[in-house]
Amino acid sequence: MNILLTGAGGFIGFHLAKLFLKENINFVGIDNLNNYYDVNLKESRLNILKKNSNFRFHQVDISKKDEIRQLFKENNFDIVINLAAQAGVRYSISNPHSYLDSNVIGTFNLLEEVKNLNIKHFIQASSSSVYGRADDFPLTEYSSTDCPVSLYAASKKTNEIMCHSYSSIHEMPITCLRFFTVYGPFGRPDMAYYKFAKLIDSGKPIDVFNKGNLERDFTYIDDITKSILKLLDKPPISDNFNARYNLFNIGNGEPVKLMRFIEILENQLDKKANINYMPMQKGDVFKTYADCSKLEKYIEFKPHTPLEVGLEEFIKWFKEHEK
Ligand SMILES: NC(=O)c1ccc[n+]([C@@H]2O[C@H](COP(=O)([O-])OP(=O)(O)OC[C@H]3O[C@@H](n4cnc5c(N)ncnc54)[C@H](O)[C@@H]3O)[C@@H](O)[C@H]2O)c1
Repeated sequence: MNILLTGAGGFIGFHLAKLFLKENINFVGIDNLNNYYDVNLKESRLNILKKNSNFRFHQVDISKKDEIRQLFKENNFDIVINLAAQAGVRYSISNPHSYLDSNVIGTFNLLEEVKNLNIKHFIQASSSSVYGRADDFPLTEYSSTDCPVSLYAASKKTNEIMCHSYSSIHEMPITCLRFFTVYGPFGRPDMAYYKFAKLIDSGKPIDVFNKGNLERDFTYIDDITKSILKLLDKPPISDNFNARYNLFNIGNGEPVKLMRFIEILENQLDKKANINYMPMQKGDVFKTYADCSKLEKYIEFKPHTPLEVGLEEFIKWFKEHEK
């Protein structure tokens, strides 16, 4: 296997890379190390990975066609896992261009490179945000995704349909994965669990949107990486449109109310949160709740880590990292 992992300096990319190294899998990781959040955190993840010679890293931007072309010229990839993206829902309101560049053009550049190669599997990160403000739970892969409420969600839906068309035209095996609110050690400082932990720990107020009336299907990072590893050598055969295309939800299947989530954080930090109740935010969704039966049937595994257990791992890391 000759694997390319994009977004290797990112949260999910780093953990997937760590799992590959544990499994003795040799691969190339790329990342443009952008400053959407603290670059030091990305560097510190990469420094851990670079200790292992099975990992080779290049600073490459997937939105730059020439950089991607050169990378593919120099390597004979047969598996591509595209986790590189401009993430974040709220940031897409103020910085729309980076979503088009990294998510749409970036994915397009990769698909264009692999379309004439005899690729074994192309795995693309999507997101639960494609379901928009759905109200029919749990969300299955057949639920409507016609009404994204942020440009981030629209860019991820675009990725899915681009992937379907490439898989159909070029007979490439492609799997898209809809991740549901992923959390864990070395996590993303822009996400609520990290922001809240930091603010509660320092006695500062937290902004709680929609007056706390939100629910999320929090998914522990190890459940995500285990699922991807199991999917790696299970490329799709073909679907109804004769495309070799598959699509899976990857979520815990247990939505947790935001106020319960804050309570767990308070208990684990042994501090009370100072809460600022706010109205609903633009671009945000009320609830996510994944039906993962399709995934479970396919790989005989589904995410299962209880939020209390996963958050304990995060808080352990947070206390060491933030002090
Ligand atoms: N973390 C979650 O809860 C979650 C949920 C749903 C979907 N996702 C998706 O999973 C993937 C990984 O997310 P993450 O949480 O690890 O985010 P992350 O921001 O930590 O990782 C993404 C990495 O991609 C890199 N990157 C961005 N644009 C790039 C470009 N043009 N070229 C090369 N590298 C680039 C960034 O520097 C970053 O290191 C993303 O596609 C994201 O949209 C994440």
